[in-house]
Amino acid sequence: MAKIYPDLYQFTELLQPIRLSVHQYLLLTEEPALIQTGAITQAQATLPQIQKLLGGKSLKYILISHFESDECGGLAVVLKAYPEAVPVCSEITARQLWGFGLAQKVIIKKPGERLSGNDFTFTTIAYPSEMHMWEGVLFLEEKRGILFTSDLMFQMGETQGIVVESSWKEAIQASGADQLPNLAMQTKMVEDLKGLHPSFVASGHGPCIKIIN
Ligand SMILES: [Fe+2]
Ligand SMILES: [Fe+2]
Repeated sequence: MAKIYPDLYQFTELLQPIRLSVHQYLLLTEEPALIQTGAITQAQATLPQIQKLLGGKSLKYILISHFESDECGGLAVVLKAYPEAVPVCSEITARQLWGFGLAQKVIIKKPGERLSGNDFTFTTIAYPSEMHMWEGVLFLEEKRGILFTSDLMFQMGETQGIVVESSWKEAIQASGADQLPNLAMQTKMVEDLKGLHPSFVASGHGPCIKIIN
């Protein structure tokens, strides 16, 4: 576990055979929000650390970019410990959570919508990442300028606690948006990213990025 940015804690599981780091984050404010749960082994390993950081506070939200095991495979583990926590996700992800019986109460956010709390405002950005390339979401925490990029800005290797510096322009060029399966998706993703002004990228896999312009 590493405090990687003000109010932001990073937890990592290293998938050994392929040396892929899977990061999840806790934005620790009055209303704590977990970003990604990791797969079930990760959630089991990190839950005691999260509980220690929360120190008796309840977990308010669980932000999920899309329905995949490293993003939300550990949801049942987290919800068992914090049954009051509410997953926040796209409509497609919500359908999966309901269909698999993983959650009842879910907050659905369309791209461009906000989730506001006492000390944060998350905005969602469209991210074609679901099965059949349907719409998932990325989350931008506007108050601190933290963009949670899930599988964008992806890098293999052991990247726990690592922060690199980059301009936003270069970060977009290296984001992997150009690997989306068709030109229209690539163009829209790049244009959407260009419209953002993050200070910090909290990557799902890879180093975090401090944006220097
Ligand atoms: Fe994914
Ligand atoms: Fe991922």
